[in-house]
Amino acid sequence: MRVSVVGLGKLGLCTAACVASKGHDVVGVDSAASVVEALNRRACPIRESGLPELLERSYGRMEFTADAGAALRGSDITLIIVPTPSGPDGAFENGFVLSVLNSLAPALKEKVERGDFHVVDVVSTVMPGSSEGEFMPLLEGLTGGRRGRDFGFAYNPEFIALGTVLRDFLNPDVVLIGASDERTAGMVRRLYESVCDNEPRFAVMSPTNAEIAKLALNCYVTMKITYANELARLCGAIDGADVDAVAGAVGADTRVGGRCLKGGLGFAGPCFPRDNVAFQRLAELNGVKLFLPPATVASNDFIVDDLFKYVETYVPTPSGRVALLGLSYKPGTHITERSQSLMLMDRLLDAGYGVSLHDPAAEPDLTRWPSGRAVKYADPTEAVLSADGGAVVLAVAHPEYAGIDWAAVDRRLTRPLYLIDCWRMFRGFPFEGLRNIRYVGLGEGSSFRFLTDARGR
Ligand SMILES: NC(=O)c1ccc[n+]([C@@H]2O[C@H](COP(=O)([O-])OP(=O)(O)OC[C@H]3O[C@@H](n4cnc5c(N)ncnc54)[C@H](O)[C@@H]3O)[C@@H](O)[C@H]2O)c1
Repeated sequence: MRVSVVGLGKLGLCTAACVASKGHDVVGVDSAASVVEALNRRACPIRESGLPELLERSYGRMEFTADAGAALRGSDITLIIVPTPSGPDGAFENGFVLSVLNSLAPALKEKVERGDFHVVDVVSTVMPGSSEGEFMPLLEGLTGGRRGRDFGFAYNPEFIALGTVLRDFLNPDVVLIGASDERTAGMVRRLYESVCDNEPRFAVMSPTNAEIAKLALNCYVTMKITYANELARLCGAIDGADVDAVAGAVGADTRVGGRCLKGGLGFAGPCFPRDNVAFQRLAELNGVKLFLPPATVASNDFIVDDLFKYVETYVPTPSGRVALLGLSYKPGTHITERSQSLMLMDRLLDAGYGVSLHDPAAEPDLTRWPSGRAVKYADPTEAVLSADGGAVVLAVAHPEYAGIDWAAVDRRLTRPLYLIDCWRMFRGFPFEGLRNIRYVGLGEGSSFRFLTDARGR
C-alpha cells in the first residue's frame, strides 16, 4: 500500500516507520520545517526506544515533505496524527485536525472527481461526535464527494505507551476501526494485518463508537491502576499485609486480570490523565452523571499528598534532604508530563526541603528554584548519599536503579536514611543487617510499623 502520514510526532513518526518497515511506501508530512529537514538528512527528531534503528532500516521506502496535498495524491490512505490539545473544559480541541483536512481537501477532490477511492484515517484522539459532526461533513462539503461512496473515512486510534511505542504498535491487543463503510474498514484492516507482528482482534464499528471506545478503554485502565493504588495504601496500613500478594491473587481471576494491578504511584503522562477528564466532559456534555471517572482522578491526585505526608513523617525538619530517584512519568521514557515524582518535588521544595534528583533521561527545569535547593545528579548513588540523614524516594522503577549497591551506600552513610520504595523494587534485599538504611516498601504493612516508629520518635 502507499501510505501517507500527516504529523510526524511521538506517535506519527513511529507509525510511519513501522508501516514502512513492513514494506509499504510511506510519505511523511509535517508542518514543522525542522522535522522534515531533520528526517530528510536522516536525523531522528523524536526520542523513542528503537526508533532511530527502525528508521535507518526503512528510509529507503520513506519520503518527507510539508505538502499534505502532494502526499495524499501519491498514496491510497492518509493517516492523520496531529495534536488535539485539551481545552480549558477538558475536551479535546480539533483545530489541528481540521486544518489538515482543509489542506488535504483539494487533492482529495481531484481523486473524487477521477473516481479514485482514497481513505482519510484520523488517528488523533478526538471527542466523540467529531467524525460525524465535523470531519466527514467538512470533507463532503469541500470535495463534493460522499463518504463511503467517493472517499472513505476512518477513525482509528492507537493504544500505545511512550517508551514502548514500536512494540505496542506492532503487537496490539485490539485494532479499533471506526469506518464510514465496509470498503474503508477492509482497507484499514488490511493495512494493520500486513504491519502487525501478532494477530490482533479487529473491532470494527462506527466512527462514533470507536471515538467512545478509545476514551472508555483508557478510562477503564486508569480506574484499574487507581484500584491497585488504593489497595497498596490499605495494605501499607495493615501490619503484615503485602499488596503484591493480595493484588497477585485478585489479578489471577480472569474477570480481573493481572495487568496494571501493581500498586504504586499514580497514572500520568500525556494520555491517561487527559483522556479521563475528556471522558467526564463527554458525560457532562450529554447530561449524564458519572461517578467513577471523577473518583479516579481524585484518588490519583491524593497519592502525591499521601507520599508527601510519608516523607514529612520520616524527615520532619525541612533541613533534611530528600533524594528523588526517577523523574519521568514511568520507566523507559524521558517524558515528565504530569509526573507524580515532579509533583512531589514541587511539594518538597515548597515546604523548604532540599531535593537531590536523578533520572537517566528526563531533564527537569530547575531554574524556578534558588540554586542548591534542587540539584540533579548524574549518578543515582551520589544522589542517595547527598540525602544522608533524610530520605530517598524511589519514584520510578528505572532498571538502572537495580544496580545500586545498598550495602556500600550504607557504609558511607553517617546517619539513618529512610528508603521509600514506591514500587518495591528492592524488596527481598537484606536491609535488616544494615546500620543506617531503613527500608519502607509502599504497600507493605511493615512500612506502617516504621511510620508509627517514626511518629513516636
Ligand atoms: N504520544 C502518545 O503517547 C499518544 C498515544 C495515543 C494517542 N495519541 C494522540 O495522537 C495525537 C498526536 O500525538 P503526538 O504525541 O504524536 O503529538 P506530537 O506533538 O508529538 O506530534 C504532533 C506532530 O504533528 C505536527 N503537526 C501539527 N500540525 C500539523 C499540520 N497541520 N500538518 C502537518 N503536521 C502537523 C507537529 O509539527 C508535530 O510534529 C494526539 O491526538 C494524541 O492524543 C498520542
